Amino acid sequence: MDALLALDQGTSSSRALVFDRAGRLLASAQRELTQHFPQPGWVEHDAAEIWAGQVACAREALAQARGRVAAIGITNQRETTVLWDRSTGEPLHKALVWQDRRTADFCEQLKQQGLEPRVRALTGLVLDPYFSATKLRWLLDHVDGARERAERGELAFGTVDSWLLWKLTDGKVHATDISNASRTLLFDIHAGEWSDELLGLFGIPRALLPEVRPSAGGFGQAVEFGVPICGIAGDQQAALFGQAALQPGQAKNTYGTGCFLLMHTGAQARASAHGLVTTRTADGGFALEGSVFVGGAVVQWLRDGLGLIRSSAEVQALAGSVPDSGGVMLVPAFAGLGAPHWRSDARGAIVGLTRGSGRGHIARAAVESIAFQSAELLQAMQADGAALTELRVDGGASANDLLMQFQADLLGLPVLRPQITETTALGAALLAGIGAGLFASADEVGTIWQLDRAFEPRMSRDEAHTRMAQWGRAVRQVLAE
Ligand code: G3P
Repeated sequence: MDALLALDQGTSSSRALVFDRAGRLLASAQRELTQHFPQPGWVEHDAAEIWAGQVACAREALAQARGRVAAIGITNQRETTVLWDRSTGEPLHKALVWQDRRTADFCEQLKQQGLEPRVRALTGLVLDPYFSATKLRWLLDHVDGARERAERGELAFGTVDSWLLWKLTDGKVHATDISNASRTLLFDIHAGEWSDELLGLFGIPRALLPEVRPSAGGFGQAVEFGVPICGIAGDQQAALFGQAALQPGQAKNTYGTGCFLLMHTGAQARASAHGLVTTRTADGGFALEGSVFVGGAVVQWLRDGLGLIRSSAEVQALAGSVPDSGGVMLVPAFAGLGAPHWRSDARGAIVGLTRGSGRGHIARAAVESIAFQSAELLQAMQADGAALTELRVDGGASANDLLMQFQADLLGLPVLRPQITETTALGAALLAGIGAGLFASADEVGTIWQLDRAFEPRMSRDEAHTRMAQWGRAVRQVLAE
């Protein structure tokens, strides 16, 4: 009865994982999620498919675990925007995914009007299509009758957590948590509430918005399962929590579809002067965050776009078949570049090709691009004055030893991989455990973190600087296009 169910709704897949209170994984289920690319730069998900896949996973994992769970925690791809009808529970349009760039021109107009400094001061974010507000505005402007219906209070907006919560509670609860709210561009991260000023600026009726609650606590009852939902957090903040990075200066990098490096800054909001954003953590504090849009997804592209490998697992062998990338650099700006560049118009490139370049070099360059982009985030944090001594890692691609070693080499810091790399789901489960009263405090969950392997830097700092300079040149080529 002490088990906890985490629903981890990510960009590439929906998953459900059952943990015991010591953090041991008891059961799991997974469904891939269809990606829709209706136009270049546009990315959509079917919200009905998200729900169907997620609930199917929950049923399967619970059947495997064969016991009752005490509480459910939800964690989710953040910023992705869902608009639905409050009376029917039907989405009005496909969800606009965080990677979707269709509102780039609108963001540019707002910047031209000089609005970015004010938006930044309130939200900690930058004016980029990545965040929810301009996506929601697009839906209100492009779906027939949506704005009028929104003003009449007939529609609901939510990030994926709110959407799942609404469905799980049979439409009884329309809420979100502070970590997800802080990714919308509509939330004043300092006051901890929706901002009327921002709602006016983006043209969003307040009647659309969910109630914002703390990440651990009551969110209502999942009707089908007869279990309370006691935790919600955006996946990156959930991972920070699951990594037990609760003290100022502790940082983690998650290698998922994208890469997300977050450093806890305690109760203090720290503004970045080097392209990072400020965001709220699941324990009610603040973090500095760097978001890379294409991380592990570059491996999917090698598989699905280039046909270079048949399964993602093959990438380590192919990349390891050559001693280095032979000067080939792959900049996977497929969805523009996020932090620290924030250039939604950027597009990807492979540079440095010679007659001797082969599949192995391209695979190696793809894997290395994940580490290069993450290293740029860490450099930005250091430029902002952070003194990191180690980096905790998780997510699918953190299982790739070659990548982790290269990451430690570039950073000149130990890279620590925990025994449980399912830290996102674990974080959500632990938040639910706190919300349900199974754990007294966040400190208690800190004891669950155990080291699997530490990757110590082996490359000389000179060599690492040379490699970073090569990467910098490749990025500059992309930005100059
Ligand atoms: O901000 C987007 C992020 O939450 C997506 O995470 O794990 O689905 O790549 P993931």
